[in-house]
Amino acid sequence: MNCQLVPSILSADFNCLGDQIRELEQEGIQLLHIDVMDGMFVPSITFGMPVIASLRKNTSLFFDIHLMVQEPIRYISDFKEAGADSITVHYEACTDLDATIAAMREADVKVAVSLCPETPVTEIEPYLDKVDMVLVMSVRPGFGGQQLIPETLEKVRQLKEIRDQRELSYTLEIDGGVNRDNLAEIVKCGTELVVAGTAVFRGEIGENVRMLKEVIAHAS
Ligand code: DX5
Ligand code: ZN
Repeated sequence: MNCQLVPSILSADFNCLGDQIRELEQEGIQLLHIDVMDGMFVPSITFGMPVIASLRKNTSLFFDIHLMVQEPIRYISDFKEAGADSITVHYEACTDLDATIAAMREADVKVAVSLCPETPVTEIEPYLDKVDMVLVMSVRPGFGGQQLIPETLEKVRQLKEIRDQRELSYTLEIDGGVNRDNLAEIVKCGTELVVAGTAVFRGEIGENVRMLKEVIAHAS
């Protein structure tokens, strides 16, 4: 699988979100990263099901929902109903990750688990054969526009190695602090999906997407 750019709408202009999503579609974007924050697991609050449901009516893009929510098991079926294609929960936010994964399977969404920068890969190793995707946080979750923590790239390499060794098939995604200068190095670590908020939405969206895609193509 080639590496794909996944814009995070956290940095979009919410006043014209529909138009900005259309622009992304015109640039050939296929997945949209949607950050849901609850003010508990992370300090910020973003948006929830009603916003996602309303976006769902206007686009057929793949909705990659990143739940930065304490005990997300409570909301899996709601997000599915709102239009989620994949749901990412945080290892650190789940008392019972097995039950949370089971709820996601039951809801028939792609199952993804994320780990914060300070959580070692060994913590999620027992779950790797049960997930479709692993999201490596390259910043502390909660805010856009932070600087990538370089040590987190090692986790992508580690997860890729484990996947090969154990013949597993999860997709790798990285999220946070991606920009035109560090993107090539990130791609070379072997991730299939790269989330970018600020780097896509600050300035001219079309130009940014084309430039970031070009960097990916060169580095792949
Ligand atoms: C941070 C979010 C990210 C965020 C990335 O908690 O999970 O998806 O939108 O934003 P940038 O690309 O600006 O770091
Ligand atoms: Zn995110």
